[in-house]
Amino acid sequence: MVLKSSLTITFSLVAFLGFAQKLKPVDQRVDELLAKMTLVEKIGQLNQYTSDRLATGPIAPNSNKFNDIKQGRLGSMLNVEGAKETRMVQEYAMQSRLKIPLLFGRDVIHGYRVTFPVPLAEASSWDLNAIELSARIAATEAAAAGLHWTFAPMVDISRDPRWGRVVEGAGEDPYLGSLIAKARVKGFQGKQLGDLDAVMACAKHFAAYGAAIAGRDYNSVDISERALWEIYLPPFKAAVDAGAATFMNSFNDLNGIPATGNKYLQRDILKGKWQYSGFVVSDWASIAEMVAHGYAKDKSQAAERAILAGSDMDMEGNAYISSLSNLVKLGKVPESLIDDAVRRILRKKFELGLFEDPFRFSDEKREKKVLGAQEHHKAALEAAEKSIVLLKNENQLLPLDRTMKKIAVIGPLAKSGYDMRGAWSVYWKDDHLVSLYEGLQAKLNGKAQLLYAKGCGIEDTSTAGFTEAVETARKADVVIMAVGEKWDMSGEAKSRSDIRIPGVQEELIEAVKATGKKVVVLVMAGRPLIFNYTAANADAILYTWFLGSEAGNAMANVLYGDYNPSGKLPITFPRAQGQIPIYYNYRNTGRPLTGKDMSYKSAYIDVSNKPAYAFGYGLSYTSFSMSNLQLSKKDLKTDGTLKVTFTITNTGKYSGEEVVQLYLHDLVASVARPVKELKDFQKVKLAPNESKTLTFEIDKEKLSFYNEAMHWGTEPGEFKLMIGNSSDNILLETNFVLNN
Ligand code: GLC
Repeated sequence: MVLKSSLTITFSLVAFLGFAQKLKPVDQRVDELLAKMTLVEKIGQLNQYTSDRLATGPIAPNSNKFNDIKQGRLGSMLNVEGAKETRMVQEYAMQSRLKIPLLFGRDVIHGYRVTFPVPLAEASSWDLNAIELSARIAATEAAAAGLHWTFAPMVDISRDPRWGRVVEGAGEDPYLGSLIAKARVKGFQGKQLGDLDAVMACAKHFAAYGAAIAGRDYNSVDISERALWEIYLPPFKAAVDAGAATFMNSFNDLNGIPATGNKYLQRDILKGKWQYSGFVVSDWASIAEMVAHGYAKDKSQAAERAILAGSDMDMEGNAYISSLSNLVKLGKVPESLIDDAVRRILRKKFELGLFEDPFRFSDEKREKKVLGAQEHHKAALEAAEKSIVLLKNENQLLPLDRTMKKIAVIGPLAKSGYDMRGAWSVYWKDDHLVSLYEGLQAKLNGKAQLLYAKGCGIEDTSTAGFTEAVETARKADVVIMAVGEKWDMSGEAKSRSDIRIPGVQEELIEAVKATGKKVVVLVMAGRPLIFNYTAANADAILYTWFLGSEAGNAMANVLYGDYNPSGKLPITFPRAQGQIPIYYNYRNTGRPLTGKDMSYKSAYIDVSNKPAYAFGYGLSYTSFSMSNLQLSKKDLKTDGTLKVTFTITNTGKYSGEEVVQLYLHDLVASVARPVKELKDFQKVKLAPNESKTLTFEIDKEKLSFYNEAMHWGTEPGEFKLMIGNSSDNILLETNFVLNN
């Protein structure tokens, strides 16, 4: 009896102490723990290794990782997978002297068990709620699989489709990119860190990685201070404002200084001006790679430069763990900087509740219940439908006539579920992704006959399959063609110097078109491609990107009108590689090409200045008109707000959604301003003949820019206000004046 009551007292005392600990402010708990740590244990928190099962970069051999964990020389691992495996690895951390739990991170970029459309596809939806929900579901599944942290959202603005990583971002525009960054951070982090369906977000790659010269991955970036602040930094600031728990720096040098060792970026801007309290993880071995950059003579100097510049954690670089102790002893690195980095990391571990229960995310029962849930598939289907962009629809060929009884499905991607996952999918090994063919089979359900021919490969140049494809087309009422890239032709280290549709796929389209049949072309890719023959000759074109687990079902729903396509391009599609970089928010120059006379104008002698498809472009099965533009005033005071109202009407026969875009042009300023900049948009759904009055509000934030001295603010003067359904299709416009 006595034993029982003393045990009860002991347990309740332990519980009380644990509870009391939890009541302490996190910073106090961090400081108390930090005070107990040796220098090696502190540096251990700054050290991150990948699991040996999966390397998402060049692997540095290190066989005694688990021993390092037990000795407190490791603070985090990436690419550890699943509730069981994370529990097993966390057990090693519980054998260390201070039992500091590990953080487990993974690239959960567009879904975990259920794969969502690639991020650039989701950006085409311009549907911020859908984008946030996608991240929310990805986080729910990832957290159920033992993960604490995703290395997403990638918020790099890019104007260069040769760069393979354009697939991971939100396109070319800082305004749209900032809103999407916010939506993704909120989606991943949910209500609060520590919830069992929330993971830490990681805004990456800081900074300007998308401006790699010539679109060649990892290449140098050389941009003006103005471009850095106006184009590349805004989505990162949006991520800070959204509460992103972590940042990841980037491989590139920025004007000669590698981002990983860039004090201006990490300390002056991020941790200084923006007062960022999270932590910065390096990209894969980017600290050690500063030796290759020629910015450090050896790994030790790389470690020194990186920690001084504000890189808190060393991913798979083995630089901090091998050099920082000595650098502190030599007085080259103040221990206070190590302490600051450790605090930032420990704070997140406390916020995640890992000190109360290091295994709380590693619950196999929850993992089994949550992963692949039906409602996740439903959300993935809706996200996929919204991500499809209708580029052409000659004579309203789409939606397809359901009386057609023979449908030819031709092309190397027609039966590929495998490629629908796109770059950076997580759980594709045993996952089933619905192909276009399967989606059509399910949709038609025997009511029409599907004829199939592959026609050719994706990259090979053999035309041996053309004959069969042409014969198949001849038998059909209509032809649906599925062409494009392989899933892994975009993504990291996948830059392409030639962004046409690869192989002989356009020749296949030409051969099929010669039959005289109506041809619908679906282009599947992770980047804008060039396909001028198809653009001119196909009867209808859908840009379907890589749409994830429900790809085929989404494509079938759009083809048959069960979903009216509403996507808009988040990035400009060049007509020729020579136009790159080409983007909508360009400055006018002193010799703009305005009419037919090209002499001495800013133009090419061999191709139009116009893109193949503009930023913000996308058609619908219905049509919309806009009218009755009203401004609350024509003269705006700097601190005032301008109210803009107008009417939009669905003038077609299908219900549909339109993305109404508002652009501004500051006509004259102390710095030449872009001919237009996206400053607001609304996605609105209307039934046939339905009208709605929409309102935009313009305040000084939308009128501000970096002046000649790089100060953010407004200048009095005249502005042009434009409203349209694409950056190259302005339907309403007027001017107003901003006074002092
Ligand atoms: C890669 C990528 C980065 C990713 C990291 C971990 O090299 O650049 O985006 O999060 O390594 O996989």
